[in-house]
Amino acid sequence: MALMDIRVYGDPVLETPTLAVKEVDESIRTLVADMYETMKAAPGIGLAAPQVGVSKRLCLVDLSAGAEPDQLMILINPEIIAEEGYQKEEEGCLSFPGVFGHVERPMNVTVRYTDLDGDEKEIEGDELLARALCHEIDHLDGMVFINRMSPLKRRLVLKTIRKLQRDGQWEHRPGEGSEERA
Ligand code: NI
Repeated sequence: MALMDIRVYGDPVLETPTLAVKEVDESIRTLVADMYETMKAAPGIGLAAPQVGVSKRLCLVDLSAGAEPDQLMILINPEIIAEEGYQKEEEGCLSFPGVFGHVERPMNVTVRYTDLDGDEKEIEGDELLARALCHEIDHLDGMVFINRMSPLKRRLVLKTIRKLQRDGQWEHRPGEGSEERA
């Protein structure tokens, strides 16, 4: 297993819609194992393939951030098939180091996906799990979370990022920060 580089905002892969996974083969299983190591090292509660530079419709969600292996959810070709309610909570993203902001999400979502055995499954989540599922599936659609923030907040965030870019400090550092990011 290998750690992968986490791409930060500015890399076009993060704003490119991904392609569906056609077959759950050995290359996908290897990718999932590497992504899991990368997510644990980050640490994060979710990681989408574009965040490691792979434009495939695949993501991980693990609310324990790697602490409990049975918490890992591997979602291949996920789609939100139902949503209900409303929440607006703070989110962070591994591709936006140090950036946090409030984002509107449904309170409850149902997601259909393929698992690592190639079987179709459904999962329902609310509160933090609903936010994590929506955040990851957004990544697979090429949508980054700052585009769901208020226009004012987004402008402030972009200004901060541009300064960090100028100073050569806009990058992911594994193991830095213990906040809930995905
Ligand atoms: Ni993210």
